Amino acid sequence: MEKIHAVITGIGGYVPDYVLNNEELSRMVDTNDEWIMSRIGVKERRILNEEGLGTSYMARKAVRQLLERTGTDPQSVDAVICSTSTPDYHFPSTASIVVGKLGMKNAYAMDLQAACSGFLFAMDTASGLIESGRYKKIVVIGADKMSSVTDYTDRQTCPIFGDGAAAVLVEPTTEEYGWMDSHLRTDGLGLPFLCLKAGGSATPPSYFTLTHRMHYLHQEGRTVYKFAVTNMSDACALIAERNGLNKDNIAWVVPHQANVRIIQAVAQRLELPMEQVMLNITHFGNTSSATLPLALWEYESKLRKGDNLIFTAFGAGFTWGAAYMKWGYDGK
Ligand code: UT7
Repeated sequence: MEKIHAVITGIGGYVPDYVLNNEELSRMVDTNDEWIMSRIGVKERRILNEEGLGTSYMARKAVRQLLERTGTDPQSVDAVICSTSTPDYHFPSTASIVVGKLGMKNAYAMDLQAACSGFLFAMDTASGLIESGRYKKIVVIGADKMSSVTDYTDRQTCPIFGDGAAAVLVEPTTEEYGWMDSHLRTDGLGLPFLCLKAGGSATPPSYFTLTHRMHYLHQEGRTVYKFAVTNMSDACALIAERNGLNKDNIAWVVPHQANVRIIQAVAQRLELPMEQVMLNITHFGNTSSATLPLALWEYESKLRKGDNLIFTAFGAGFTWGAAYMKWGYDGK
């Protein structure tokens, strides 16, 4: 029997209209455009600031565009996997809200939480389901409303993050395209360095947790930075070596967008110029699960069938990894 590969056949995306730029941010905390651009590389980020709207709103917009662009009947979708760390609710899942609103009546839906590596992990999961032969159409979403967990009095974290969502359709092919290989890892030692301290079952909400601002993202930036550079670079090098990829045959690197200096280090390790690295951190900031699919969304027209892509990400946990995908269609 021919081997089934899982290939991306379309992309949809959505970012909120509101633009929070460095100038406005400098009026909220003691920071400035020069510091943020040189240390992180973010000029502006999008913020979902309408009351009552959560991550599922952006996810729904992205999936609706995906279904329209690919001419997909919502009822033909078999499964929806939503990668998010900022779900609308602890339960039910954000994915269940999306399928409910969009009439995806024949899909089972679930959220997958692997922080900023979530889209990579969700793609690997979806690919396994497609390769099993039991599923024909899976929607994989990366969506996060990071503004809901960002402390806008903390200058060390608030310049980094933004809101957004994007989704891809994953389908089977017997051609040599699609999700070819991955190297994904998790190490729980990262917990104290990057976490949301309260609101979960270990420390439920209380007056104490509210007073101590424990419902906002906590990050020890320097430690996370070191682990991110090392692990993303090593994972990319491993995936490249295992698949005979090098600077002459890699078309694009699709990295998580946490810090432009981390991205430059990854490109350097692969000996690739920044022109071959997808970037959206400058105008969207770190949208967590959404960084990778939003990059595909913006660069789609440049992609060609057969392009070799390396995806890489790093996030809380720690979680990290890299994957190799042979792109499956000419971008329009
Ligand atoms: O997406 C999940 C994974 N996350 C990551 O990969 C993030 C990894 N970490 C980073 O990207 C960086 O560590 C940060 C961008 C978070 C911070 O950059 P840094 O170069 O590590 O800065 P730092 O925290 O070491 O701070 C350097 C200085 C400090 O001042 P002193 O102690 O040297 O006087 C900070 O107080 O910069 C100061 N500082 C700021 N100054 C102006 C920190 N934040 C700001 C700010 N504006 N917003």
